[in-house]
Amino acid sequence: MPYDALERLKDLIELSKLGGGRERIEQQHRKGKLTARERIELLMDEGSFHELDRFAVHQSTDFGMDKKKYLGDGVITGYGTVNGRLTFVYAHDFTVFGGSIGEIFGKKIAKVMDLAIKVGAPIVGLNDSGGARIQEGVSSLIACSEIFYRNTIASGVIPQIVAIMGPCAGAAVYSPALMDFIIMVKNSFMFVTGPEVVKAALGQEVSFEELGGAMIHAKESGIAHFIANDDAEAIDLIKRLLSYLPQNNSEEPPLVDMGDDPNRTDKNLLKIVPPDPYKPYDMREVIRSVLDGNEFFEVQSMWAKNLIIGFGRLNSMTVGVVANQPLYLAGVLDIDSSNKAARFVRFCDAFNIPIITFVDVPGYLPGTEQERGGIIKHGSKLLFAYSEATVPKITVIIRKAYGGAYCAMGSKYSKADINLAWPTAEIAVMGPESAVRVLYRKQLKRMREEGMDTEEVVKRIVKEYKERFANPYVAAEKGIIDDVINPEETRPVLIKALEMLKDKREARPLKKHGNIQL
Ligand code: HXC
Repeated sequence: MPYDALERLKDLIELSKLGGGRERIEQQHRKGKLTARERIELLMDEGSFHELDRFAVHQSTDFGMDKKKYLGDGVITGYGTVNGRLTFVYAHDFTVFGGSIGEIFGKKIAKVMDLAIKVGAPIVGLNDSGGARIQEGVSSLIACSEIFYRNTIASGVIPQIVAIMGPCAGAAVYSPALMDFIIMVKNSFMFVTGPEVVKAALGQEVSFEELGGAMIHAKESGIAHFIANDDAEAIDLIKRLLSYLPQNNSEEPPLVDMGDDPNRTDKNLLKIVPPDPYKPYDMREVIRSVLDGNEFFEVQSMWAKNLIIGFGRLNSMTVGVVANQPLYLAGVLDIDSSNKAARFVRFCDAFNIPIITFVDVPGYLPGTEQERGGIIKHGSKLLFAYSEATVPKITVIIRKAYGGAYCAMGSKYSKADINLAWPTAEIAVMGPESAVRVLYRKQLKRMREEGMDTEEVVKRIVKEYKERFANPYVAAEKGIIDDVINPEETRPVLIKALEMLKDKREARPLKKHGNIQL
């Protein structure tokens, strides 16, 4: 080979590493951000990354673009391993046209996604982009649409994880919305259009933070599944998340032995549920107690806090946990918590992750706000998601399981495989006080009209109702639950059920797809 040819290759490779140039790299660093390359280096096992299309450049000539070409065109794509497992990646390079998505940029992402889908390995996006590249007009919209299409086709086939690591707008947030998990770095932003466009369109002055800061999306919109203090922490979260997941929908999640005894019991569980049924307790204590190494990787921990979701392991196997949280709103199901749980259940089902459900729910949240907001349609998603899921489903009723919320939280009749109850479980259409007031409304009204004190009568009937329904044994008599268990043995009982269900196969009628409420 002529010496010059090799030199040229080396020079071009060095040039491609500079992205938008040294000054813009320094700007990126000054903002406390890593460059796209540095992010990939942190993500991938050392020396494992192989880049694709590093010499690609845009073909645009409008707006003087023909004079501004950067090797790689503002996105780095390729493959390598993360903790030894094949993973595909693309990282927006904000130093080149603000990481905006042009025709070639989009084609690069489409190519790496096609490969990921073909070989069945996760795709990780590291986003830092102003969205569709304005100078490229409709070509950039096509590029964005090609990405959206692949996000959709990949959904339920390979895990799709994205970290938002800068100000992201337009297509740089819609593609994440189509993916499975979004991690936001604290000084990053997500909005459909940035503050400048908001000002031009609506005359509103709004800060980046107010419009789409990480905390807004963690606490209010629920769009961010995880928050990281910086780029490095975001990459760590991606790695941790991947460790729970299979490579694709036809594989099982990896087994990770944490050295925890499957027969371990926990006496503390006997003390968790307070004697007063209206007193809250932290359901996380139950979850942590039963999982391997007491390790629970919570998802969307700041949004819809009345319901907990996340990953853990039981005897080395990945499980998805869904649980009501009595600490917030008494663990009631509302619009946000139904959406949160339903999407998580569907993710677990798509990726062969068994679902463990812990129930303590007083019902669906009543009231005009919820009704007008569409609790009927949003709440139905949970019924749909559990019924549709064919992965092993094990449910433990800890305390209350009332009404429609009982049906929704992995009940026997949404085809949960094993339903267990603690002796503190209460399974009923509604709580005793409400039930008595509905059932005896006319009698109580008459008594009040006759000047009688109804409180004593209510107390007596509530007591009778509780004795009849506020325990797990009526349900146990009917086989609605499979067993009432000693709380301290929850972990070993769950593990035995999970082992038994390991090879579960359940068929559903053939269809194109269901019609879940949206
Ligand atoms: C081309 C862009 C760009 C874009 C940013 N830049 N966004 N170039 N197309 N979409 C360029 C800027 O001109 C600037 O170049 C450089 O990137 C850095 O941007 P700054 O504005 O200086 O940075 P910052 O102040 O941090 O603000 C970042 C930003 C802002 C919030 C992303 O640039 C912004 O509001 N951009 C537009 C966002 C937007 O409305 N996108 C929607 C596109 S439509 P110079 O050379 O001056 O440094 C879309 C279709 C989606 O995506 C379809 C959905 C279904």
